Amino acid sequence: MSLPAFLEQKFVVVTGKGGVGRTTVSAGLALAAAQQGKTALVIEMSGTADVAEALGISNPSFEAQQAAPGVWLMTLTPAECLSDFGRRKLGAGKLLTRLLNNRVSRAFLDAVPGLHALLQLGKIENLINEPGPSDRHYDVVILDAPATGHGLTLLAAARAMREMTRVGPFHDLARVIELFLADPAITSVVLTTLPEALPVNESLQFASALEADGATLGGVIVNQLRPRPVPEAPAWATVREGIANASSPWSNVLPIADRAVAQYAEQEAVLRRLIEALPDGCPQVRVPRVEEAGLPRIDAVAQATLEQS
Ligand SMILES: Nc1ncnc2c1ncn2[C@@H]1O[C@H](COP(=O)(O)OP(=O)(O)O)[C@@H](O)[C@H]1O
Ligand SMILES: [Mg+2]
Repeated sequence: MSLPAFLEQKFVVVTGKGGVGRTTVSAGLALAAAQQGKTALVIEMSGTADVAEALGISNPSFEAQQAAPGVWLMTLTPAECLSDFGRRKLGAGKLLTRLLNNRVSRAFLDAVPGLHALLQLGKIENLINEPGPSDRHYDVVILDAPATGHGLTLLAAARAMREMTRVGPFHDLARVIELFLADPAITSVVLTTLPEALPVNESLQFASALEADGATLGGVIVNQLRPRPVPEAPAWATVREGIANASSPWSNVLPIADRAVAQYAEQEAVLRRLIEALPDGCPQVRVPRVEEAGLPRIDAVAQATLEQS
């Protein structure tokens, strides 16, 4: 058992289309890293408490909280990141900090496209590259990123901000973030997908867009794999014929079995396509579909990650 190369990086961005399992995967990767003796921090930036819920934390906060041995969680709201940035980089005193915490800051934050993500990434970059005396040391920081389209926006936001501002603290921040995200020694982007044609197509598009952007794909997590529904062909063909011919009550459920067989065949085809399309050596982790919600799904991600590396 070992960790995939992307979990040896300092910063892992977990992206993917909505609902494919980014949150479950983020928590599972943190668990895998912790089981290999690392200290992992999961970052929630989407404004939901999904990771917190998955990890059993009821009041997620800007202050890191421990969810399990070696697993920590932090929720980054844009407003808190802005006042933190103010304290760190603008030398903001109490007055400005208070100002930044009120309506004005919220209006400002919402008015500037990409500023939310930039400030959140700024906090992460700071935690990794210049932790303060009161900051804990984390071996790996795992970001439960917004859905794919936004994942790329994340990378593009820094560039856009740098080009728009030219000088000043936000320009400097944008430049730092751009380098931070594009540095293969620090950041790794991991893509979560389902073993179905559409999500895999989108994932492959995302992978090439990433490459075009100068970032590299650290790995792919294929989540919710279906188990083989029936014995392998040709055994199944014989059994199926027997059932179809006998006037047994089983023949009524044959269409259901046929559907499961077709879905499984699609899954196999999609997995083959994924292997062919991904760069050689790009780690791939396959996670089975797990009926029981909550921790068992996170555990499944952790086990698959450790076993397949
Ligand atoms: N391996 C799995 N097997 C079964 N259900 C899963 C698995 N992984 C995730 N899920 C479920 O799918 C839903 C979406 O997962 P979630 O991690 O919240 O996705 P996202 O963060 O991408 O929206 C959740 O109900 C989650 O519990
Ligand atoms: Mg989520």
